[in-house]
Amino acid sequence: MSSRKLLVTSALPYANGSIHLGHLVEYIQTDIWVRFQKMQGHTVYYVCADDTHGTPIMLRAEKEGLTPEALIARVHGEHFSDFTGFNIRFDQYYSTHSAETRHYSEDIYQKLKAAGLISVRAIEQLYDPVKQMFLPDRFVKGECPKCGAKDQYGDSCEACGAAYTPTELKNPYSAVSGATPIKKASEHFFFRLSDERCADFLRRWTREANHLQAEAANKIYEWLGQAGENKLSDWDISRDAPYFGFEIPGETAKYFYVWLDAPIGYMGSFKHFCANHDVDFDEYWKKDSTTELYHFIGKDILYFHALFWPAMLENSGYRTPTQIFAHGFLTGHGEKMSKSRGTFITAASYLQQQLNPEWLRYYYAAKLNGTLEDIDLNLEDFVARVNSDVVGKFVNIASRCAGFITKRFEGRLVAGEDYRLLQQTIDQHFAAWQAGVIEQAYEARDFSTAVRHIMKRADEVNELIHELAPWDIAKDATKTNELHRACSLGIQMFYLLSSYLKPILPATVEKIEQFLNCSSLKWPTQSSGQFLSSLLLPAGHLINPYQHLMTRIEPKQIEAMIAANKAPSDTQATDVQSKNQPSDIVPIAETISIEDFSKIDLRIARIVDAQHVEGAEKLLKLTLDIGIEQRTVFAGIKSAYDPEKLKGRLTVMVANLAPRKMKFGLSEGMVLAASDPNGTGGLFILSPDEGAKPGMRVK
Ligand code: 2FM
Ligand code: ZN
Repeated sequence: MSSRKLLVTSALPYANGSIHLGHLVEYIQTDIWVRFQKMQGHTVYYVCADDTHGTPIMLRAEKEGLTPEALIARVHGEHFSDFTGFNIRFDQYYSTHSAETRHYSEDIYQKLKAAGLISVRAIEQLYDPVKQMFLPDRFVKGECPKCGAKDQYGDSCEACGAAYTPTELKNPYSAVSGATPIKKASEHFFFRLSDERCADFLRRWTREANHLQAEAANKIYEWLGQAGENKLSDWDISRDAPYFGFEIPGETAKYFYVWLDAPIGYMGSFKHFCANHDVDFDEYWKKDSTTELYHFIGKDILYFHALFWPAMLENSGYRTPTQIFAHGFLTGHGEKMSKSRGTFITAASYLQQQLNPEWLRYYYAAKLNGTLEDIDLNLEDFVARVNSDVVGKFVNIASRCAGFITKRFEGRLVAGEDYRLLQQTIDQHFAAWQAGVIEQAYEARDFSTAVRHIMKRADEVNELIHELAPWDIAKDATKTNELHRACSLGIQMFYLLSSYLKPILPATVEKIEQFLNCSSLKWPTQSSGQFLSSLLLPAGHLINPYQHLMTRIEPKQIEAMIAANKAPSDTQATDVQSKNQPSDIVPIAETISIEDFSKIDLRIARIVDAQHVEGAEKLLKLTLDIGIEQRTVFAGIKSAYDPEKLKGRLTVMVANLAPRKMKFGLSEGMVLAASDPNGTGGLFILSPDEGAKPGMRVK
């Protein structure tokens, strides 16, 4: 028994959204690795939690009319049930909104402060004048200051990967109200990453001991720069009220930024586990611990895990991670996941449509190779691959051989001389099976290589069974022993293959354990030179009657799942990686003819004047020049626009709408604006491309 002790984590999902198939790439990957390590006899703990703090969760709760605590409790239940449904077995699934995470957040903060690594200074930040709150990075959008890509979040650019502060964005807007944010000063707390102690440590840590995959390390070197270059900025770890999170000790209305306590949630979750299971927390987290700590994460959060997190731990007296395993994103048929194409699939809907979770586990395993490459979910390929490999190659071995063993041999595999002959056949026939290749591939998270080897072996077993043709020899009464050996060979090889597949197909292998009458399949370690036949079930082993192990995927099940997830319009396409976006869908209106459409006279209009309207909560009074005349229009855009900034702008108006008498005067048309159904995603009036003139018709 090895003495390795491993603590393994997956990234903590935010407590304001559903788990979807994109998330599952990571949890399935981690779960397979953890199950493999447990089968090696190591002591392994797999912990995770909901990431519960921050403005998105606060706003989501507000929108649902709930307290944040009630929202996170509900989502915790949903997440846990989704994970359980996909056979992901955490040793602890907790919450960052916990006494333990609060304790370690305060502890780490105070230690960093004592080390002189916390500074305080007033900064100007973007503030939503309508919603009256400072805007978190992800609630300010605008153009990337590095590459100019539009609609990027305030912390990093999804187009070029640059990290920056929201005030650096060009043409920013509030994603809460759509208003143009104003700059407002307030005091913030910073973790002094620019301090040479941090920079020196990180330069060393990122280069040594394989802490990072090569591709990830290269990215980090870019961010770190050379010694003396001091490329790292201090990290802002505080947020002002209103905020849902932990208050900073000794301060008023200042909270830890969610990303400060999120990774500390790994510690909080494990601490909770330790308290209930008599495990020594300190052994795993003390400096110079000999235990191993692994974080599985998406490549989008590398910056937090490979820079901030090790620097926080190092400077507060804790151990740092052994390795960080970053993976790529999930694409759907080579494109970003999209609701309109039905490839944005929630975990719950997959399970509700009665699709077997083991199918997805197998498919992901067959694609994961331990690098940062994206993996693609192609639904036709998914059906073909699972049906051909798992059902056609693997399960087929048992279903072809088991019936004879039960009916003709009272459920017993061969014994005595026949067992010896069977061992000989196996050793001769499968001599080329290389010891350790599957094991090494699993260890390196290269599950696609492991699966390739396992399926190649399944092919070889099927070929041999085909040659032995038990269904033919069964007809010849003189060949009973031969039949018994052929079918026993099939079952014995099925037993070995099942052990190799157990980390990937745990629920199926549980059924197989029942069928094979084995309490729990062990990893079949084959040291070099050791005969495969020494790993078999014992002579004369009794098996149970074969029960159906897995059905094939029917294409109609996939169609039903797509339909259940399909949004009615491409305009609602949602990127699977984008977080915290309103997910409401507006169905497309009834079809109209071109004649119907041409009745609407849309014109380019210049806003020559814009004024507040006394007593009106939502309206601005606009004076619009449409070339031939001027019109007065009352538009409900006050929450999103400062009238001063509208003056001189071009927009689009409906010029032939019947005038409407309003409390404040006559409205002679309508300006066009975009918004989502509940208005939380902002309000945006339309602008024509350069060159358009007032009065031009829009068709
Ligand atoms: O990116 C995310 O979804 C974060 N909730 C991950 C947090 S991982 C860890 F640091 F807590
Ligand atoms: Zn960019």
